[in-house]
Amino acid sequence: MYKALYRKWRPMTFDDVISQQQTTDTLKHQIIRGKTAHAYLFTGSRGTGKTTCARILAKAVNCRNMKDGNPCLECDICRDADSGALTDIVEIDAASNNGVDDIRDLRDAAVYTPERGAYKIYIIDEVHMLSPSAFNALLKIMEEPPPYVKFILATTEIHKVPATIASRCQRYDFRRIKAEDIAARLKYIASQEELDLTDDGAAMIARLADGGMRDAVSLLDQCSVCAEQINAETVSNAAGIAGRDYLYDMLDAITDSDTAKALSITGTLYDMSKDITRLCEELIMQMRNVMLLKVSPDTAGQLIICMPDELERLRSLAQRTETGTVMSRLSMLQECRERMAKVMNRRVEFEMSLIKLCGNVNNAPAAIDNSEIYDKIKQLEDKLNSAPLQRQNVQPQEAPIEVSSPVPDAEPVPDVDLSKVKQQDFVPFERWDEVLTEFEKVNPSVAGSLEGSYAATAGNVMFITAKHAIFTKLFHDNKSNAASLGEAIARVAGKRYAIRARCLTTNAEKKSMAEEMLKKAMDSKVETEIDNTPIN
Ligand SMILES: Nc1ncnc2c1ncn2[C@@H]1O[C@H](COP(=O)(O)OP(=O)(O)OP(=O)(O)O)[C@@H](O)[C@H]1O
Ligand SMILES: [Mg+2]
Ligand SMILES: [Zn+2]
Repeated sequence: MYKALYRKWRPMTFDDVISQQQTTDTLKHQIIRGKTAHAYLFTGSRGTGKTTCARILAKAVNCRNMKDGNPCLECDICRDADSGALTDIVEIDAASNNGVDDIRDLRDAAVYTPERGAYKIYIIDEVHMLSPSAFNALLKIMEEPPPYVKFILATTEIHKVPATIASRCQRYDFRRIKAEDIAARLKYIASQEELDLTDDGAAMIARLADGGMRDAVSLLDQCSVCAEQINAETVSNAAGIAGRDYLYDMLDAITDSDTAKALSITGTLYDMSKDITRLCEELIMQMRNVMLLKVSPDTAGQLIICMPDELERLRSLAQRTETGTVMSRLSMLQECRERMAKVMNRRVEFEMSLIKLCGNVNNAPAAIDNSEIYDKIKQLEDKLNSAPLQRQNVQPQEAPIEVSSPVPDAEPVPDVDLSKVKQQDFVPFERWDEVLTEFEKVNPSVAGSLEGSYAATAGNVMFITAKHAIFTKLFHDNKSNAASLGEAIARVAGKRYAIRARCLTTNAEKKSMAEEMLKKAMDSKVETEIDNTPIN
């Protein structure tokens, strides 16, 4: 069976791990001297090698012929650890086993000495997901661990790990991997896989991956399915950079203060199911590019992620705008992006910001309050509706959640009102693991990005909550990904669902967002429903 490239190319020794040399050197040194700690905490952004290093460390301390601090990969311990047959190394995914009972099971098992190795090792991945009582139970064991037990905790969200736990661990911070290092590793993987990856293709993937090696390798995987030669163009197609004229049209409209045009482009994109949050993020990226071109025209080319012809359009935008204006527009967009995470009606939020962006930004746009803007949107809407380009009325109270599927044709029409579904209307979709298995058979690269995801249904709508942002990107930007996922779901569930995808936010974040949003909606007299989509 085809194995996703990022799994296949998981480093097996510390020497294979790139760009984390400080960490790997220290760990190797400790292993050579036999002076390893009782507990480790690996933190840092996604796909930088935490889980990978936890597994290598677990093997190395038990390996029968450890080589310079690396596991030999040949002895029975190394081999059984890799096949999952070694009971002395226990890996717990706290994302799905986060209860106090899971940790109690761990505690009960920890009283037995290791079967074959010198140590019994517990790798607790995504440790920040443990419930408070589970953390307490864990703390009890960590306070007085048996001498043969070691813990390796891994997390992207160190601030959610209680200080009592963190202070008992040796902590290592995994850094974002430099674009050059990612590109070099991609070239190596491509050569081993006999993939034709050009230098500019590798550089483009590396910049898009933003420091995460998993996303980089997944994108390479994705591209290898689409094209013979993987170059900047194929990468941009696979990542959805191609066909972004609308973005530049929008930026032109903003630069020319053409509010009606900017709103009309938004309306068209909205009707085409474009995710408005994504749109805002894309605008931020391009506005950032304009800023870079303003302040450092010579070097900006290397920092910007875009196609060559887009660079020309960006240059022209930079020429037509003052640096100060670019900066204030950028911060308006950033604020808009932040607010969008808190409100139900992202479209209205975005349109309000567009109007501000098109206005004279130096004339204290903050003075305009939301209700005035709302009126102005209405006026503009009326104007637009009488213009030749016909589009939907803005009806904020009926607007669907902005995460619609990119393949509306193949999907049933939702039989629930998406603007009104409440938490209690959702049923967890129990067979999600089966869907993932099915999906991995047909689309392993995208299936990889669904690691740690879950799904819930309401009527014929299935909401997928993904842990990795790259999934929502691959889902929204590439129709065939969305279609093959829909197929996999239909095969398992025996019926088709209208699919909505989103990236994970935590309960606490959601709650505060909802409260703030409700308050704001009341203040501005906008009728609004709270998004009560469950996230557990
Ligand atoms: N430092 C690295 N060197 C080489 N490959 C890496 C490195 N970091 C990650 N990878 C690649 O990315 C994949 C995922 O890495 P890993 O699971 O270790 O990431 P992680 O830091 O645990 O991420 P997450 O926080 O998302 O769990 C690996 O299988 C490997 O292909
Ligand atoms: Mg991990
Ligand atoms: Zn070994």
